[in-house]
Amino acid sequence: MFLGIDLGTSGAKLLVTDDRQSVVAEAHAPVASRKLPAPWSEQDPQDWIAAIEQALSQIVGAHPGLLGQVRGIGLSGHMHGAVLLDAADNVLRPCIMWNDGRAAQECADLTARADFEGVGGNLVMAGFTAPKLLWVQRHEPEMFRKISCVLLPKDYVRLWLTGDHVAEMSDAAGTLWLDVGGRAWSPALLEATGLTEAQMPRLVEGTEASSRLRAELCRSWGFAPDTIVAGGAGDNAAAACGMGIVEDGAFVSLGTSGVVFAPTKTFRPNTKQGVHSFCHAVPGTWHQMGVILAAASCLDWLARIMGRDVAAMLTLLPERIDGPSPVRFLPYLTGVRTPHNDPMAQASFHGMTAQTDGADLVQAVLEGVGFALKDCVDALAAAGTTIDQAYAVGGGSRARIWLQIIADICDVTLLIPERGEYGAAFGAARLAQAAVAGGYDPSLFGKPAVAQVIQPDAGRSAAYAEAHRQWRRLYADA
Ligand code: XUL
Repeated sequence: MFLGIDLGTSGAKLLVTDDRQSVVAEAHAPVASRKLPAPWSEQDPQDWIAAIEQALSQIVGAHPGLLGQVRGIGLSGHMHGAVLLDAADNVLRPCIMWNDGRAAQECADLTARADFEGVGGNLVMAGFTAPKLLWVQRHEPEMFRKISCVLLPKDYVRLWLTGDHVAEMSDAAGTLWLDVGGRAWSPALLEATGLTEAQMPRLVEGTEASSRLRAELCRSWGFAPDTIVAGGAGDNAAAACGMGIVEDGAFVSLGTSGVVFAPTKTFRPNTKQGVHSFCHAVPGTWHQMGVILAAASCLDWLARIMGRDVAAMLTLLPERIDGPSPVRFLPYLTGVRTPHNDPMAQASFHGMTAQTDGADLVQAVLEGVGFALKDCVDALAAAGTTIDQAYAVGGGSRARIWLQIIADICDVTLLIPERGEYGAAFGAARLAQAAVAGGYDPSLFGKPAVAQVIQPDAGRSAAYAEAHRQWRRLYADA
């Protein structure tokens, strides 16, 4: 048996799988966010541990003795967060999260100090870890001086599980301190942030064993004493592992944020358009991602201000969308990463008249997110990765009408996986299985069966290509 733990932004999800990768147990527990004014976003790492303990109790309650059969644990989690520890491993301040945009000024300063683009292969973006540390150095110097170790969120969970400070490549790449091509910490990039390699955790690959479970946890939860904890992966790389998108393939994810993800056999950055070029969770592989910060959350936002739930709001739309709405929406409610790297970008509607109704606004929002994803597809293409087809995942992918719009706008065939488990927790369990088996084995990373194929329509794609050109001018003119 293998346990996958995915530390999500709103909750922890745990899955236990057997040797044939069937799910035998599952649990979920919420994590609270601190209420802070935008663009700040923080969480208390103790709340993550409490959520995982709660989910473990659910599993123990429903399946007594099951945890004793677990041979490996895999970890996945939201990326880029900064957990700052003192020499006694006390958490110095709440974790500054991936969706926190306070460090905009620090991005410009770091860019001027060292070759983050050349060595790190990525633009310095406000959500990433390095600029957050420069912010702490400037605004909380007392705290900064006490830092003995900086951990990513899921690696703090690992510290609790094993007592060891360990990171793995896919998540470490999102700190901006990694030489991503060389898969090692970069002393120069750390120095630009006022840190040294001594403050960094040891690095492993996602499919490697990182450490063993602490004896105390084995006793209290009933795990076997030789249970290993695998390297695991950042949540997007873990989800890719769950879908078998390791050596080829692609996915589009419509969650709070929107992601276009594709593995690459070599390290192929495109910093000009804000492509994220990170290590994959498997040795010798990398991946590219286009990331927008608001995707399904744009629909939630519109539903909230229209006083409906999302499903009711979508019923305003006609059965089929024949082409672009006259109204355009820039979906930058919480800034944007790819392609503009602009944490201060704002959302807006354009082209409204006295005839504009609710249905036009809903269509404009669905299309606006679609256009932003098309920017990501184009940015990956400029970095040498052409996407013709991709799995569609995430909460937003339940809206078939939205998937057709995205397929038409991006000119990409979307594959809807059959019902079942293939998310980040499942990917983490697969990484645990690989680590127990001694390393990466392609047969452990199969792709889900396809339940439905959504083809782009050539006529609508042409109309959307013109609309996308017009839409792009709105940000340029803003
Ligand atoms: C990726 C990113 C998000 C978080 C939260 O770069 O910031 O996808 O990992 O899920």
